[in-house]
Amino acid sequence: MHSSLAFEFIGVTMKALFVFVVWIVAMPAKLLFGQVPRMRAVALMLEAHPELRNNASPHGDIFEFGVFTGGGLRAWVDEFAKRAIKFGQLWGFDSFKGMPDVDPNTSDPEEQRIRQRGHREVAPGQLNAMQRFREEVASVSSLDDLHRELRRIIGHPWDRTHFISGFYNESLPRLPPEMLRRMKPAFLVDFDGDWYSSTIGPWEFLLANCLVVPGSFVYYDDLQECGLGSGCGEGRAHAEVTARHHIKWERHDWRDPRRNNRSGLPIVFRVLSLRPAPGCRRRLVLQ
Ligand SMILES: C[S@@+](CC[C@H](N)C(=O)[O-])C[C@H]1O[C@@H](n2cnc3c(N)ncnc32)[C@H](O)[C@@H]1O
Repeated sequence: MHSSLAFEFIGVTMKALFVFVVWIVAMPAKLLFGQVPRMRAVALMLEAHPELRNNASPHGDIFEFGVFTGGGLRAWVDEFAKRAIKFGQLWGFDSFKGMPDVDPNTSDPEEQRIRQRGHREVAPGQLNAMQRFREEVASVSSLDDLHRELRRIIGHPWDRTHFISGFYNESLPRLPPEMLRRMKPAFLVDFDGDWYSSTIGPWEFLLANCLVVPGSFVYYDDLQECGLGSGCGEGRAHAEVTARHHIKWERHDWRDPRRNNRSGLPIVFRVLSLRPAPGCRRRLVLQ
C-alpha cells in the first residue's frame, strides 16, 4: 500500500517536472520567434562600430517602449552578451494591458485608417501581455508576478531591469524624480509601440530628460507599413523629432543578400549630434 502510494507520488512528480521542463524550453523559443530584425540590428551596429565590444564600463542604458512578453528585450540581452558588449540598466515601458484606444482626434493617417476600418487589424487592448501570461503561465495573476516572469525571461540582472507600467501619456509624466535620476543616457532605444502616438510621446520624454545623446542607437521595429518618409507611424515620429531637435544621424540599413544587397529592414540609427533640451548640456555624454 505504502509503496504504491510512493510510486504514484513519484509518477505525479515526474509528470510535473516534465511539463515544467517542456514549458521552460518552449516558452523562450516562442518569445524569441520574430527577433531576427534585432539580431540583424546588432550585427549592423558591430559592423559599423567594432569598438563597442569588450568595453570596460557599460555603454549606457537600454530603453524599450513596447515590452509585451519580453522577446525584444531578451534578444538584445542575448545578442549583446554573445558579442561581449556591456550595457547598464534595462527600462521597459508598457501598459501591459495592450494597445491604447486610438485618439478620435489623431492627426496620424495610419491611426485614422485603423479607426475607420473599425480596428480590424489592430484593436485597443490587443497585445495584452497580462492576458497572454495568464493564459501561458499559471503563476501570473498580478503585475508583480508579470514583472518577475519578465525578468526571468529577459535574463538581465534583476536589480538592473526595471518596468514602468501604464499608458505612456499617463506613466511618463508621473515618473518619480529619483527614478529619472537613476536613468542613464541611452546606449539604445527600441521603439516598438507600433503607432505614431506611441512613439512621439516616448521620444519627447527621452529628449526632455537628456536621455538621448550623441552615440545613442535608435531602433524602430515597425517601419514596414509606415516607413521613413511615409508621414505615418514610427517613420513620422522619426522625421518630426529629427527636424524639431536638429538631429544628425548615422544610418545603417540591412542589405539583403538574397535581393542583390538591396537595402531593407532593419535600419539602425545612431545620433551624431542634436540640439539639446534646456538644462541637458551637462548630461550629454554616454556612460
Ligand atoms: C508589438 S508589441 C511589443 C513587442 C515586443 N517588443 C517584442 O519584441 O516582443 C507592442 C506593445 O506596445 C504596447 N503599447 C503600445 N502603445 C502603448 C502606449 N501608448 N502605452 C503603453 N504601452 C503601449 C502594447 O501594450 C504592446 O505590448
